[in-house]
Amino acid sequence: MASESFFTDDNIEVMFDAETLQARIVELGAAIARDYQDDADDLVLIGILKGCFVFLADLVRAVDLPLAVDFIGLSSYGDSTESSGVVRLTTDVSKSIEGRHVLVVEDIVDTGLTMNYLLENLRTRGPKSVKLCSLLEKPDKNTSGIKIDYLGFSIPDKFVIGYGLDYAERYRNLPYVGVLKSTDG
Ligand code: IMP
Repeated sequence: MASESFFTDDNIEVMFDAETLQARIVELGAAIARDYQDDADDLVLIGILKGCFVFLADLVRAVDLPLAVDFIGLSSYGDSTESSGVVRLTTDVSKSIEGRHVLVVEDIVDTGLTMNYLLENLRTRGPKSVKLCSLLEKPDKNTSGIKIDYLGFSIPDKFVIGYGLDYAERYRNLPYVGVLKSTDG
């Protein structure tokens, strides 16, 4: 390892620190609580594994409603930073979403291919509504025209890591979102 601390590695440039992320998540949580206050009993937040796990944990604690949580496992990337364009459902929800208000919670919308596939799939299952919350979006690359109902931050077309996001399964535990300056080592 290049430096003594994994979290403060010289090879990582911080894009959003923990404080900035929390402040934005509190705002997103308040907006979600306001919009779903009359539908809370039917509300389920569905996190997309694995990248959502840190964001979702903070987001649900910022939504002051009696909501339910479920998970879907999707995989669209191998161990590289390029989209394969192939989406695979690896884990499905544990309870039917029929008649429920679904809010999908994603870490990042890049090309939008993954969300395009998933939202279409969920809409065939008879939910009352399906909306999308994503912490990050790369607007320059979102070619699918996916609408993000609750967005944390728009970012430039850079490969980001941390706060749940990985590069080859590493860096998910960084408490901030950062950019890897080099992937050589
Ligand atoms: P999309 O289908 O191109 O929108 O890609 C969505 C998925 O690719 C996300 O859920 C992430 O798992 C992964 N991904 C896209 N961009 C990044 C990135 O910059 N860092 C880490 N993962 C990414």
